[in-house]
Order: sequence, then C-alpha cells, then structure tokens
Amino acid sequence: MREAHQDAVARVSEERLWRRHMEMARIGAIPGNGVNRAALSQEDIAARKVLIGWARDRNFEVGVDAIGNLFVRRPGHDAAAAPVMTGSHLDSQPRGGRFDGVYGVLAGLEALQAIDEAGVKTRRPIELVAWTNEEGGRFPPCTMGSAVYTGARKLEDFLDVKDNEGVALRNALAQTLAATPELAQRPMKTPVAAYIEAHIEQGPLLENAGKTIGVVTGIQGLRWFSIEVFGKTDHAGTTPLALRQDALRDAVYVIHALHELTRDATDTVRFTVGRMLVTPNSTNSVASHVLFSVDVRHPDPVTIDRLGKAVEPTARKAAKQCTIKVTPTLRDDPCVFDPGVISAVERASNELELRSMRLPSGASHDAMYMARICPTGMIFVPCEKGVSHNEAENAKSADLAAGARVLTAALLELANKDE
Ligand code: GLV
Ligand code: MN
Ligand code: MN
Repeated sequence: MREAHQDAVARVSEERLWRRHMEMARIGAIPGNGVNRAALSQEDIAARKVLIGWARDRNFEVGVDAIGNLFVRRPGHDAAAAPVMTGSHLDSQPRGGRFDGVYGVLAGLEALQAIDEAGVKTRRPIELVAWTNEEGGRFPPCTMGSAVYTGARKLEDFLDVKDNEGVALRNALAQTLAATPELAQRPMKTPVAAYIEAHIEQGPLLENAGKTIGVVTGIQGLRWFSIEVFGKTDHAGTTPLALRQDALRDAVYVIHALHELTRDATDTVRFTVGRMLVTPNSTNSVASHVLFSVDVRHPDPVTIDRLGKAVEPTARKAAKQCTIKVTPTLRDDPCVFDPGVISAVERASNELELRSMRLPSGASHDAMYMARICPTGMIFVPCEKGVSHNEAENAKSADLAAGARVLTAALLELANKDE
C-alpha cells in the first residue's frame, strides 16, 4: 500500500465511528437498544440532517436526487473522472438495530474524513451515498433508491405506494426533500467507476469462523409479491361458515400452500410472509379483505425463477371461497460481484493483516443494483450471533473500525488506480 494511503487508513478513528453510531441510534430509538427509523419519516429526515452536518464540517459537497438519495462528495484532481462510490442506508426496519445500513454510511464518511485529514489527493472523486428506502419496511419494495438511481425502475412506479397508514410515498418524499431545500440537485445514473458497500453480515458465518472481514462474492436472488384476498364481511355469530367469503381464512390456505411450494430439505430457500393488513380487522366480523406480502429468495437463478413463476398459480389454486390478486413487486436475479473489486477488498484485508473469508450475501443490498452499472463489491463485518432486523442487533466497535479501514484502503486503490 502506498505510504499516503497508509496514513489515511491510520486516521480511521474507532472512537469517532462508534460515537457517531450511538448518536444516530438515538434518532428513532426504541426499547431494547433498537431503532425504528422508517424511510422518509421525521426520524429519517433527522438522521439525514445529522449526516449533512458532519459532511459540511469537512466542507464536503452534498447533493440529493429526485428520490432523495443523498450524496456527499470529496473531489478528485481529474475533473473528468467518474467517482468511486461507497454507502448504504439510514432507514431501518420497524424493530431494527443500530447497525444495519447506518454502518455502511458512517464507515463511508469515516473513510472520506480519514482520507481528507491525511490530505491524500485522489484522481477520482470519492462519493458517499445514503440510499433512500433500502428497507422497504414502510414503502415496499426494498432497495428503491438504488433501483431508481440505476434506471432499473422508474420513480413514477413508486410514487403511489402507500404505507400501513395510507400515506403515499409521493407525499413522504416531498416532505423529506422540502426539509433540505438548500441541497444541490443531482441527476440520476451519473457514471460511477466502482461501488463498494460496507455492512454488518446479518448472519453468523464470520463470527463462527473467527474472521473479521467478509469479502462478499454476490447476493442471492429474490422475488416479492403483494397478494390480496377479496371476500365479504359478515357477522361472526350468525353467518354459517358455508355461506362466507372469509378473506382471512383463504389467506391462511394460500400461505400454507406457498410454504409447501418452498419446502426444501437443504434449507436453502428463504420464504417469508412478514406483513398482513386485515380489513375490517375486528374480532366479530368476517374479514372482507386481506393484503399480505411474500418474500422468496434463493442463490440459484434457475430455482428462484421457478419458484417465482409458481407463486401465482399456487396461490390461485389454494384460495377456496374468495378471489385473489397477485402483484409482483420485486424481481432481482442473483448477482455476482466484480472480480477486480473483490480482489481490492481482499488485498486491503491482507495488507492490514485482518482475517478474512469470501462469502455470499443472504440479505439484499443496494450493491445489487449498482452491480448493473459499475464494478461492485461489498465488505462485511461480523455481528453478534448473526442477529439482524431485531433490536438486539449488535457489533463490536473494533470490527466496525476494521471494516472502515479496509474500505478506506480499497476506495483509495480504486480512486487512484489509473494514475
Ligand atoms: C434487506 O434488508 C433485505 O430484505 O434483505
Ligand atoms: Mn441493510
Ligand atoms: Mn435491513
């Protein structure tokens, strides 16, 4: 590693990185050490403002695009060169932890700040991005900001998506953008030279193997659906079962059939129904309408395609009394990361004498969409017992800092590669 790059890596501050995590964790804090910071909520806006403040303290340029993706930029000396980018997300699951997403943003900021403090000049700009609505917990589907940024989906496709309270994304987004009117407007899909995202692993492999750094090889494929069951509301005490169109009963049959479809002796398929809205949601009224989510994942492209195609016919066959509507909301094939970025991450880990291993990602990340437009990779650090999407999510300060050092070294290598 060049001496100047070593100097930057040495300036990564474990103490500052941890302190910033704890400060962010206060925004939307929930009992049990968790965080509820839904995308485009007041808490999300507050977290964005804190990030913007830290970026401004270093005189970094800050911009925002039409879906609210936030960009922090440290210029390079070649004005025509495309940036090397890093980042992740500030939004969380409703019962999320203190590290999922925010780590990749704060590790990126730490890298930018360490490079700046060391006075290292890079040919390419280095940009940090905080993607809008990575989680999809409030407004499905997930990884929305990067899908729109990369042109895989259109912003208009998502503007009418509603949260559980009936708020449209269009209004929540307008409110979020209005909260930071001073920010420069950025176009979508500007050229990017490479993208590296740091994240906690959200699984147990690194911890079990006693490794500090995960060199991520790719992300498994997934399919999301929204399934609606249309029945009729009736009196629970008087209406004979044979005369009902009970939407909740049919929803249970459909979910059972989908569980059977995805049953897998090797426990590789991931199948989840995690969201359900029941109308009128009253103990003594038959349900007239049920909406529920389906999330299916598999690393093999043929298998995820087969399962994805089978969801609608399986659901239709299982419904007994009601009509149903199946709407696909997300379709991502498995992605394989770039060998050059994988090697840069591996090289940085080795040079910093950190124990690393290659592994695939079970969780989805914005890196999946970035891989469609530029060479992409990810850095994982261990989290306690692999627990994530849970308030108890935890990680060690030293591991977070190690990941930020690897990120700093890899970003510098890629930003100065062609000099
Ligand atoms: C992202 O949190 C995912 O659902 O994998
Ligand atoms: Mn995440
Ligand atoms: Mn998540």
